Amino acid sequence: MTLRRVLAVLALGAAIISGSATAEPIHHLANGIAAEAGSVKTRVTALTPSIVRVRVTPDGKFGEDASWAVPASVRRESVFVSATPDGFRTSAVTVHLDPATLQLTLADLAGKTIITDLPEPLRFDGHGFVLRKALPIGEHIFGMGDKTGVLDRRGYTFTNWDTDAPGFTPSTDPIYKAIPFFIGVGDAGASYGLFLDNSWRSTFDFGHRNADAIEISAQGPIDYYLIAGPTMADVVRRYTDLTGKPPLAALWSLGYQQSRWSYMSDAEVRSLAARFRQEHFPIDVIWLDIDYQEKNRPFTVNRSTFPDMRKLVTDMGSEGIRLVPITDLHVAYLPKQGYAPFDSGIAGNNFVHKADGSLYVAPVWPGPSVFPDFTRASTRTWWGSLYKDFIDDGFAGFWNDMNEPAVFDTPTKTMPLDNLHRIETDDFAPRTATHAEIHNVYGMQNTRATFEGMKRWRPDQRPFVMTRASFAGGQRYAVTWTGDNSSTWDHLRLSVEQLINLSLSGFAYSGADVGGFTGGPSPELMTRWFEFAAFTPIFRDHSMKDAPRAEPWVDGPAQMAIRKRYVEERYRLLPYIYALAEQNSRTGDPIMRPVFYDYPDALDRGCDLSMSFTLGSKVLVAGPPKPESPEPFDICLPTGGWYDYWSGQAVTQSKLTETPKLDVLPVFVRAGTILPRQPLVQSTMETPNGPLELDVYPGPDCSGEIYFDDGVRTSGPSLRQDIQCIETPKGIALRFGPRQGSYRPWWKQIEVTVHGSKTARMTIPDQSRAAEILIAAAAQ
Ligand code: NOJ
Repeated sequence: MTLRRVLAVLALGAAIISGSATAEPIHHLANGIAAEAGSVKTRVTALTPSIVRVRVTPDGKFGEDASWAVPASVRRESVFVSATPDGFRTSAVTVHLDPATLQLTLADLAGKTIITDLPEPLRFDGHGFVLRKALPIGEHIFGMGDKTGVLDRRGYTFTNWDTDAPGFTPSTDPIYKAIPFFIGVGDAGASYGLFLDNSWRSTFDFGHRNADAIEISAQGPIDYYLIAGPTMADVVRRYTDLTGKPPLAALWSLGYQQSRWSYMSDAEVRSLAARFRQEHFPIDVIWLDIDYQEKNRPFTVNRSTFPDMRKLVTDMGSEGIRLVPITDLHVAYLPKQGYAPFDSGIAGNNFVHKADGSLYVAPVWPGPSVFPDFTRASTRTWWGSLYKDFIDDGFAGFWNDMNEPAVFDTPTKTMPLDNLHRIETDDFAPRTATHAEIHNVYGMQNTRATFEGMKRWRPDQRPFVMTRASFAGGQRYAVTWTGDNSSTWDHLRLSVEQLINLSLSGFAYSGADVGGFTGGPSPELMTRWFEFAAFTPIFRDHSMKDAPRAEPWVDGPAQMAIRKRYVEERYRLLPYIYALAEQNSRTGDPIMRPVFYDYPDALDRGCDLSMSFTLGSKVLVAGPPKPESPEPFDICLPTGGWYDYWSGQAVTQSKLTETPKLDVLPVFVRAGTILPRQPLVQSTMETPNGPLELDVYPGPDCSGEIYFDDGVRTSGPSLRQDIQCIETPKGIALRFGPRQGSYRPWWKQIEVTVHGSKTARMTIPDQSRAAEILIAAAAQ
C-alpha cells in the first residue's frame, strides 16, 4: 500500500468547519466538502492529494461505507484540504462544486479541467441513477477490463455484468468480468481515471448516445473515485493503490502452460509431458480440465483414469512440470451420498438460498448443483478447507472457472436475481443481499476463498488461482484469462486489445487461450498466436473438447520450430519479465502495457497500435494490425531511439514499413536499456546453466534492473541490483549499484553484449558489489 496516511478523519460530521445546511450550501470538511440540493446530498473527500471520492445519495441518507473493491484501511485514508469558496484544493488538484446543481469539476492546480460534469449531472428514475460527465473531443477511453470491441472504448456502450459467454464475438457485451473503471486520455496523454465502486449491473456509455457525454447508470450506491494523473501510469498506480496490487506471481506461472479440455488420463498426461521433453519444447505447467473428476464433481478424482494423483504430480514434478486442476464452485447436489463437499457445506449452512428461503439447486457440469455463499467469511474458510487434500497431493495452483456463476438451462445463464446471499464479512454490516447486488463480486469472492485456502494450507508458497469471472480488486486473488474465444484472426487481434485493457484495469496477469478455444486454428494462425502470446503475461494454450488438437507440434515440424523459437525466447527473457512482475507488485505498473503508457507521443501518430504493446517500458512488440494480411504495415516507434530485438541493430527511422513474415514478430528495444536474460531452460524448475546475460542497448539514461528470488516462496531472500551503462571516453562501461538482499543467484559470471552497429561481447565475473567495469573497449 503506497497511499500516504496523512490524517485520519474519524468522523466527518465532527470535521465540518464552516456553514450549516440551511445557511451555507457547501460545508467544508477537513478532508473535503459536503453539499445538498433538495434531498440529494453529496460528499466529496480527498483520500490522497490525487484521489477524490464522491458519494451521492438521492434521499438524504448515505448507505453504509463498505466495499468489495477498496479495503477499509484504504477508504479511511484522508488528507487535509484547503477550503476554496466553491470547493477545496489539495496539493495536486482543485475540486469545484456548484451547490445548486451539484455539478462537479476536478481541475489541476493551473485551473485546467481534468474531468467535469455535464449540466444536469445526475438523474434519478426511482430505480437507479445516471451520472453525466463531459467527453471532450479527442479524448480516448481505455480500461473496463476484458470488454470486447476495440482498444479505445470511445463511441461504445458497455454493461458490467459477469456473463458466461461461450462463442463470444468481438462485439459481444457483457462477457466474463465487471470492472467499472476507465481511464480518459486527452491532449498529450493527460489522463484521469474514474472507478465506480458499485457491484450492481452498471452501464457505461462513452459518447455512444451523445457524442460529448459519458453516461454511467446503475442501481445501488453512487460511490465513485476520481483519480488524477497527469500520466496514465499515475492513474493506474493510483487505481491499484485503491483496489490492490497483484501479489508477485510464482515464477513458474510465467512459463509456458499447456491445457486442453481435457487431458483424460494419467497416461495421457504422462505422454504429453514426455513429448514436450522429447521435442525440447520448454513447458512449466499442464492443466487438468473437468474430466479428471468423478462425474464432474468438484474435489473428486476419477480413480479409474487417474489412479494415483499424488504419484502423477510427483512424477511430473521430477520432469519440471507442475499440474493445475480445475475446481469449479458448483458443488454437486448429492444429499446423503457421502460426498464431503456437499455434506460439510450443508452442515455449515454454506450455500445460497432462493428468495423463499429454500436451498437453490440448479444444473451445471455435475448436474444439479448448489452454490457456495462466498460473501460469508465463514463460507470462504470452509471452501478453502476443501483444498487441503489437493494441496497435500502437490497441485501447484487451481483454476476457478464458471464463477459468474454460470448456470445451465436458464435464459439468464445465471441464478435468479432475487436469490439471497448473506453478507458477513469485512466491515459490512451483516445482512442479506439479493443476487442482483452480489452477482458481479461472486466470482471474485470465490477466488478470494481459494486464494486464502491455498495460503492456509501452504503458507510458505505463493498461491496461484486462475479465474474467469471477477470484479475490480479481484487482481489481489487471481490471475485471469479471457474465456471461450475462437480460433479466428479476429480473436487473435481481440485478445491483444483485451489483455492491454485488462492490464490497465489492475489485472497485470492475464492471457487468452492460445490458438483459440473453439474452432481449431489454421497452422498460420496458431503460429502467430504463439508469437504474440510469448510476450503476454500468461501464456497458456487451451482448446475445447472435440476441437482439433492444439498442442504445439500438431501442424508439423516447420510450424513447431517457429513456435518453439518464441517459447524459448520467452524463457530467455524471464529475468526481465520477472523483474517487471516484481515491479508490478510494488507499484501497480502493468507488465504488458499499451505503447502510450510510457510513450504518450505514440497515441496520435497515425499508426494503428491495436496489435502493438510493450513489456515493461523497454521492449516493444509491434505486431501487424491485420495479422492475417500479407500487406505491408507501418510501425511508428515512439521518439527516442530503438534497436531491433532480433538483430541488435539500431533502428534509424521512427516510422518503418514492414512486410509480414510468418516467422517474424517485430520487436524492438528502447535505446538506453540493459536487458537481463538467462540461458535457455526447459522449465523454471531447472537452474540455468551459464552466465547471467546482460544485453546493453546504448542510449540516454541507459539502465536496467535485476530482481531474483527463489520464485515460489512468500518470503525469503531476494536480490536486487540496479545497473547503469555509461559512455566513457574509453568506451561503454557498466556501473553496478550495490546489491540488495542475500539471495544467492545461480550465475558465477555475467556475459555482457553491447548492441549497435558493432556488437561487443565480454564475460565478466559476477558483480555482487558496486563496481564500474569498462566493456566495449575491452571487448574490441
Ligand atoms: C468453460 C471454460 O471457459 C473452458 O476453458 C473450460 O475448458 C470448460 N469450461 C470446461 O471446464
